[in-house]
Amino acid sequence: MDKFEIEGGVVLNGSVEASGSKNASLPILFASILSAKKIILERVPQLKDIQTSIELIKGLGAEISKESNNRYSICAERLQSIEAPYDLVRTMRASILLLAPILAREGKARVSLPGGCSIGSRPVDIHLKALEQMGVKIEIASGYVNASVEGKIKGADIGFRFPSVGATEQIIMAGTLAEGETTIRNAAREPEIVDLANFLNSLGAKIEGAGSDCIKIKGVSSLEGGSYSIMFDRIEAGTILLAGAITGGKVRVEKIVPNDLLEFLSEAKKSGVKVIEGNDWIEFEGKGSSTVSITTAPHPGFATDLQAQMMSFLCEVPGTSTIVENIFENRFMHVPELVRLGADISISGSTAQIRGKNNTFSGATVMATDLRASAALVLAGLVAKGTTSVRRIYHLDRGYESLEAKISLLGGKISRQRE
Ligand code: UD1
Repeated sequence: MDKFEIEGGVVLNGSVEASGSKNASLPILFASILSAKKIILERVPQLKDIQTSIELIKGLGAEISKESNNRYSICAERLQSIEAPYDLVRTMRASILLLAPILAREGKARVSLPGGCSIGSRPVDIHLKALEQMGVKIEIASGYVNASVEGKIKGADIGFRFPSVGATEQIIMAGTLAEGETTIRNAAREPEIVDLANFLNSLGAKIEGAGSDCIKIKGVSSLEGGSYSIMFDRIEAGTILLAGAITGGKVRVEKIVPNDLLEFLSEAKKSGVKVIEGNDWIEFEGKGSSTVSITTAPHPGFATDLQAQMMSFLCEVPGTSTIVENIFENRFMHVPELVRLGADISISGSTAQIRGKNNTFSGATVMATDLRASAALVLAGLVAKGTTSVRRIYHLDRGYESLEAKISLLGGKISRQRE
């Protein structure tokens, strides 16, 4: 297992490019099998979750090859299997998104139930109920979802009880090759959903309204091939900007769309960080000086995936800030580890109170518990007195491409070591 050793106290300065988005790449890789023609995907980040997704679609019979570091060629002319097995699915919950594309191609699919994860129980009821409304028969047996449909998936008018990101992606994929028209009401509005719709439309799909809460999909009989470049990773961009700000430095992240980070930028500005925006870059300068109250919410609200990193940053802002976590029921796993590094945080239900001050953190050995929690610990380590060891960074490797290289480029002292 690998760990990070971080020498704290170095002020970060400079500029890095954002990687392609993990959360856009996963559904887009899966959606690629909706087409029987050749697809080229660019700006695919090198991550553990991407490897898992590739193994999953290879296992179904798709041909996939890496043409260069971030470029893949995929051709799913024929599928030979309809199964996403437990051993792969258990490491990545997003695998449930394979249900719709396999079903659309083969009329049946068998995908392992993902089970719980450290940040909450994360059920898939919204996905399954919506698929049933589209004429899909769902049966759950021996830890698997067995789905089948007579003929084609049927377009339907579907209202979600909650704007689930995954369920919105699932139903966009289900509607793409369906018979008739599908409407998704109370759809999630995340930029990654817009990216998925843009990708599918570039292959000939007819999806309108992605990015709003009502998406309409006219089913088409088949998709063409094509090439597509994945959007930037807004969570990685936010994490690196906060890494700069927590050290009081001046850090720019390039090749991004500032509009996709509006709420995050607004909270950073309220905290006193100087935020400068260009067409395709953002720069943060200086430390925070004012407390803020943040509530995570579906997009365009504050992203839950930046909550843990924001909490580390607020530990260094004098006064009491609050964070309310509204998306996942157990997403404060980073708090005990931050407290071990010196933070003063109390939790009551879904609210965390962060009593910040300058020089909160001093180095210690800490344990990463999930993907974004690991990033929060890295940020704390960058500003801590002395050395911080962050263990179990395999969590971080699921979702950050070369984070240590990017932080090193900004002057941070961070190295990967084997335990
Ligand atoms: C996606 C992101 C994840 C992010 C999350 C919220 C990917 C691969 N992952 O996850 O990084 O944190 O959006 O922005 O894109 N829920 C149900 N029933 C369902 C589906 C969801 O109750 O059928 C609940 C979940 O348990 C959770 C909440 O809804 O509490 C949000 O889940 P959802 O929006 O579906 O997130 P994911 O797609 O899993």
